Amino acid sequence: MSTLPAPHEKPQYVRAMFARIARRYDLLNRLMTAGQDQSWRREVIRRARLAPGQWVLDIGAGTGDLAREALRQQPRAHAVAADFTWEMLQVGRTRDPQRGPRPRWAVADALRLPFPEATFDAVVSGFLLRNVADVLQALREQYRVLKPGGRVVILDTTPPPRGLLGIPIRVHMRFIIPWMGRLIARDPDAYRYLPSSSERFLSAAQLAAHMAVAGFQNIGYRKRMFGTIAIHWGERPRDD
Ligand SMILES: C[S@@+](CC[C@H](N)C(=O)[O-])C[C@H]1O[C@@H](n2cnc3c(N)ncnc32)[C@H](O)[C@@H]1O
Repeated sequence: MSTLPAPHEKPQYVRAMFARIARRYDLLNRLMTAGQDQSWRREVIRRARLAPGQWVLDIGAGTGDLAREALRQQPRAHAVAADFTWEMLQVGRTRDPQRGPRPRWAVADALRLPFPEATFDAVVSGFLLRNVADVLQALREQYRVLKPGGRVVILDTTPPPRGLLGIPIRVHMRFIIPWMGRLIARDPDAYRYLPSSSERFLSAAQLAAHMAVAGFQNIGYRKRMFGTIAIHWGERPRDD
């Protein structure tokens, strides 16, 4: 397994990596998950329960799949797609639909969101948290920009199960994914980092505990894809 960058080097490392793979990112996502990622995104947005006129932030939006799905499910909502890798946002903007509502694109650091307190009705993220240097700080920022009663929904990888069931999953992560990365993105380093960061990320229960520390309530989660993907949700208390 490759070594991960130290926390103080992580933002620079992560931004440079996503800048390099931005143009191939969506294709690799579809291939590595056998197209399942889109069904998880639909579930994330369903769980955000957007109503007409509400605002949703997709943080670590990358090319904006979650923001676009939000506007597909609730065309009268407003979606902000924010990320600190300009190249990912640029690719995302080329995917804007010709007609209908489009996300608003913003360059933003998940650890210091450039939005006032209580701005959004929902904050969603896809595969962001495992890439940030400080998960708790990212959760605190999401909590801060949510309105009281607002919902957070998080899609990310979760370490694969131990034991026999985990063996084929680890083979896939350690060999097949880097091989696809070399072949398609021509960037084996990036696609070694992605499985390594997944294997070493918080367990689903630990992430739920971090959400509670950040102040969220009504927290829950479901695992998908043989226990390698988790969708977490929670709320900022109404009386906060
Ligand atoms: C694996 S991609 C996920 C993109 C998209 N959300 C998706 O579901 O496909 C992770 C994204 O998080 C962004 N990211 C990582 N750390 C970040 C930070 N501190 N602030 C903002 N974006 C960050 C990266 O630039 C990258 O675009």
